[in-house]
Amino acid sequence: MVERQTFEIAANAEAARKFAKLGATVGRFAPSEQLVAPGGHVRTISAGHYTVAGLSRQVRLGDFVAHRAANGVHLGEVVRVEPELAYVCPIEPGEPIGIGDTIIRKGAFRLAPDDSWCGRTISALAQPIDGLGPLIDGDKRRPIYANAPPSMRRARVEKGFLTGVRAIDIFSPLCLGQRLGIFAGSGVGKSTLLSMLARADSFDKVVIALVGERGREVREFIEDTLGDNLAKTVAVVATSDESPMLRKMAPLSAITIAEHFRDQGDNVLLIVDSVTRFALAIREVAVASGEPPVARGFPASVFTELPRLLERAGPGEEGTGSITAIISILVDGDNHNDPIADSTRGILDGHIVMDRSLAEEGRYPPVNPLASISRLARKAWTPEQEQLVSRLKALIHKYEETSDLRLIGGYRPGSDPDVDMAIKQVPIIYEVLKQTPGQPPSPDAFGDLAAALRNGAVPGANQPRR
Ligand SMILES: Nc1ncnc2c1ncn2[C@@H]1O[C@H](COP(=O)(O)OP(=O)(O)O)[C@@H](O)[C@H]1O
Ligand SMILES: [Mg+2]
Repeated sequence: MVERQTFEIAANAEAARKFAKLGATVGRFAPSEQLVAPGGHVRTISAGHYTVAGLSRQVRLGDFVAHRAANGVHLGEVVRVEPELAYVCPIEPGEPIGIGDTIIRKGAFRLAPDDSWCGRTISALAQPIDGLGPLIDGDKRRPIYANAPPSMRRARVEKGFLTGVRAIDIFSPLCLGQRLGIFAGSGVGKSTLLSMLARADSFDKVVIALVGERGREVREFIEDTLGDNLAKTVAVVATSDESPMLRKMAPLSAITIAEHFRDQGDNVLLIVDSVTRFALAIREVAVASGEPPVARGFPASVFTELPRLLERAGPGEEGTGSITAIISILVDGDNHNDPIADSTRGILDGHIVMDRSLAEEGRYPPVNPLASISRLARKAWTPEQEQLVSRLKALIHKYEETSDLRLIGGYRPGSDPDVDMAIKQVPIIYEVLKQTPGQPPSPDAFGDLAAALRNGAVPGANQPRR
């Protein structure tokens, strides 16, 4: 036994030397961890993962390992550790791996974000994918799995900001450091609303994680919609054809970059589109490594990773900046109670609900003002605005409540002054809320609303409303 162990250690040392050079070229790891590179050997291989003997005592969950094949070096992440076997999910699919191949421990995956990353589009492994040359690393390396700042030392969230999107600035205004979810079915308008929000000018930096998007949409999002913010934006992209490991890593890399900026005092906007695809990627990885599903097809790790990610956003410790997170959640078949929507809603400071029926009416962005909530709205509104919004919501409620009745001609004008008022004003309010990505952000949403209500029509609209 002793003999065998000595042999293994010797083999490891030999392998470590062989791989020492690769450390610098593949991925980004702390230098100390590149020197300590114990190795093991592939024991079993299956579609989603392989197991390694001889590494269990050295690796931690989330550590990276490397494997050299004929076509280059491949990385994998340790997703499960048993006394004799470590389970590894390959980062990229199609890795040619064989029984007995040597696997080297690389340690925690780290990023060294730098201000020069602004304006760049990178992969989840922080490799440039925009053809603009290599990335320059910053001074400090940060592991992509990190803890949120201690809650008692975090600054408070109390400073409102304007997004330029009227439907949000009026009904669910936001504060710096807030975490907001946008909930809607597919094709309802989440990505478009996110791209409009990404233009908000209250931020020093913007970090965008595009997870599981169609490749075509990525350039559209980055090039067409960001406008002036492009120069202060880092985009981390893992498209739908990339491996679940990369899709799982993209938001983690993005928040690690956001934390770098936050710690140097910046107010950062973090956008994740979509968190559902992140959760689905975690599920794919977990299921491949044998974790049983617990909640309607989702394994438990999904429900621990989601809050861990979102908790890292928010205000930093006193004296640093903040991370305002706006994330999209795809609600399966327009069912707003699916497990991912349910579990994220509870850990957010607000949710914007978008309805397919509004989109079908052409009321873009199809935000439902009655169902959307910003839990920090009170800090962003003035007391007068708060009162006004509560009156507007009552009017909209009246309008919607009586819409069937009015449709069949069952309402006689004059019989309820509130309904009469609603009939007159709500169409104007709805018109004010309409906004497309091609239109400039609104610097004063309440001003626009007041002007429209005063005129009894929306400025610029062709048809005066009856
Ligand atoms: N604010 C908007 N103004 C005009 N059209 C919009 C708006 N938001 C969404 N759309 C339309 O809806 C389509 C789907 O929107 P998208 O944001 O891609 O949805 P999702 O991300 O929810 O799947 C867009 O291609 C566009 O035609
Ligand atoms: Mg989308």
